Amino acid sequence: MRVAVFAGDGIGQEVTAEAVRVLEALDLPGLELVYGDVGGVAYRKHGHPLPPETLDIARSCGAILFGAVGDFSCDHLERHLRPEQAILGLRKELGLFANLRPATVFKGLEDLTTLRPEVAEKIDLLIVRELNGDVYFGEKGLRTTQDGRREGWDMMSYAEDEVRRIAHTGFKAAMGRRRKLCSVDKANVLETSQLWRDVMIEVAKEYPQVELSHMYVDNAAMQLVKNPGQFDVIVTGNLFGDILSDQASMCVGSIGLLASASLAESTFGLYEPIHGSAPDIAGKGLANPMATILSAAMLLRHSFGLETEAARIESAVAKALGDGIRGGDLGGQAGTREIGDAVLARL
Ligand code: NAD
Ligand code: IPM
Ligand code: MN
Repeated sequence: MRVAVFAGDGIGQEVTAEAVRVLEALDLPGLELVYGDVGGVAYRKHGHPLPPETLDIARSCGAILFGAVGDFSCDHLERHLRPEQAILGLRKELGLFANLRPATVFKGLEDLTTLRPEVAEKIDLLIVRELNGDVYFGEKGLRTTQDGRREGWDMMSYAEDEVRRIAHTGFKAAMGRRRKLCSVDKANVLETSQLWRDVMIEVAKEYPQVELSHMYVDNAAMQLVKNPGQFDVIVTGNLFGDILSDQASMCVGSIGLLASASLAESTFGLYEPIHGSAPDIAGKGLANPMATILSAAMLLRHSFGLETEAARIESAVAKALGDGIRGGDLGGQAGTREIGDAVLARL
C-alpha cells in the first residue's frame, strides 16, 4: 500500500498534513507514504512544477494524495512552468480521465449551506467530470496580429472515444445510485457539445435502466441553486465540470468540504480536495482540512478496497461537524490543526 503524498502549495501543505495524520492513525498494515514535490514548491526546488522524480514516485505507488498547487508569484512564468501544470500533467500522464466529485449534504447539517435548508437537504449528487480533454488540452496560443492587436486562443475539442469512456463512467455510477444521469453541455452553440450529446445518447442504449437527460450548462448552473435535489449523477466536460463543482460545494456548505477522486481505468487514482491553494489564507492555519481528509477516505475505498476504514473517516468528519466543529469557511473559529484533532478524536 504505497501512497504518494504531494502536498504542493499554500494551504495544500496544511490540509495534507491533517489527512496524513488521519491515515496514520488508522494503523493500516503495509501503509507506506512517499513524499514528492509539486507546483510552485517543486519549481523553486527543481526548476519544474512536475519534476521527473515526482512522476516516478507517482508511478511507483497505488494512489496519490494531492493537496493543491498554485502560487501567484509564478503567474508570470511561461505556462508550462506554472504550478497548475503539475496537476494537469499528472492527470494527463497517468490517464486519470474520470473525476468524481460527490456533493452530499451531511444529515442534520443542512444549516451549513447558504441555500434554504429545505432546498439543501435533498442534495445527494455526484459530478462526473471528464479530465483529460476539452479546452484544457487543446492547442492554445497568444500572438500579436499584423495590425498590432493581441489575440489569444484555446481550442475546445472532444474525440468520440473520449466522450464514450466518460459516458460509461457516468452510466455505471448512476447504476450504483438512483439511476438518473444528467449530461450537461452547450450543444445549442458548440459542435464539441453536439458530439458529446450524440455519444451520450448512443451509450445510453447499453444502460436501459438509467434515465438519461440533457441540460445546457447555463441552465444547470441555475438549477443547481434552484433545486439541487433533482440531480443524481451529472456527467460533463472538463471546463463545465470544474465550474459546476465549485458551485455545488457551496450548495453543500463550503469548498472546504468537497473531496474528489481522479481515476484511470485501473484502481489507480489521485485524490484531492476540489479547492486550490487559497493564497489569501495560506500559512495561517485557517484552512479547513475536511475536504482533503474526505479525499483520503475516497483513496482508501477506490484504490485499496478499504470500505470500512473509508466509512470510519467519513463518519468521524460528520461527527466533528455535528458536534459544532466549524472552520472559518463555515463561519466558525476552528483552525486547521484543531479540526484535524477533532476528526482524529472521533475516528
Ligand atoms: P481556491 O479554491 O484556492 O480559493 C477560493 C476561496 O476559497 C478563497 O477565498 C479561499 O480562501 C477559500 N478556500 C479554499 N479552500 C479552503 C479551505 N480548505 N478552507 C477554507 N477556505 C478555503 O481558488 P482560487 O483563489 O481561485 O485559486 C488559488 C490558487 O489555487 C490558484 O493558483 C489556482 O490556480 C489554484 N487552484 C489549484 C487547484 C488544484 O490544485 N487542484 C484547484 C483550484 C485552484
Ligand atoms: C481543479 C482546479 C484545476 C482545474 C486547475 C488548478 C488546473 O481548478 O482541480 O478544480 O481547473 O482542473
Ligand atoms: Mn477547480
